[in-house]
Amino acid sequence: QTGGGDDAKRRAGESAADIPGDGDVVGLGTGSTAAHAIRELGERVDAGLDVRGIPTSFQSRELAREAGIPLTSLDEAVPDVAIDGADEVAADGALIKGGGAAHAREKLVDSAAERFVVVADPTKESDRLSQPVPVEVLPDARAPVADAVRSAGGDPTLRAAERKDGPVVTDNGNLVLDCKFGTIDDPHGLARTLSATPGVVEHGLFVDLVDELHVGTDDGVDVTRY
Ligand code: A5P
Repeated sequence: QTGGGDDAKRRAGESAADIPGDGDVVGLGTGSTAAHAIRELGERVDAGLDVRGIPTSFQSRELAREAGIPLTSLDEAVPDVAIDGADEVAADGALIKGGGAAHAREKLVDSAAERFVVVADPTKESDRLSQPVPVEVLPDARAPVADAVRSAGGDPTLRAAERKDGPVVTDNGNLVLDCKFGTIDDPHGLARTLSATPGVVEHGLFVDLVDELHVGTDDGVDVTRY
């Protein structure tokens, strides 16, 4: 696939930032594409737009604060719209998320939103999901969940930190297993299996959740509604 890169991500993010109106509560996704939406929303808040944001991670909270977006939480409000990125988007709108290990809070906020908008560049699109599925696990559950993933036909790897010896620790204090399943023929079934495994906090399969997809291209944005 071609057409990736930061310009495409920026076009997608800015296109989605058009959606929230005065009074809206906005779920603020994680990653480099959602960051463009957050920065653009910040510009609009500067210009007088009245929105409040619900961050999905430490990263999006910091970015929203820098951008001047007032914050709230799921305790106080239901998001009217959530804008979030993805690691892979299938033709039917099923997603793999969690490349930034933020998928547990992302799924919480994105699924609570009245309208869930995904922002991506064309490199994320594929017919069927085939990237490894990130699975956030309680630290004590690493070995039993890895066994359950193998029984389900997957190959789990503990995600290592890049600039620290040892594993990635999520914003929630947990570990991440990146689980290779090859091409995923039945994302619904796999999602059910992973969700039913004790010790799994959340997995990165997002099925039947997306309402709208904004893909930035070389010269515009393609919007798909599901
Ligand atoms: C975070 O855990 C992920 O779900 C991100 O939303 C995803 O990795 C997208 O990131 P980019 O927009 O940087 O590709």
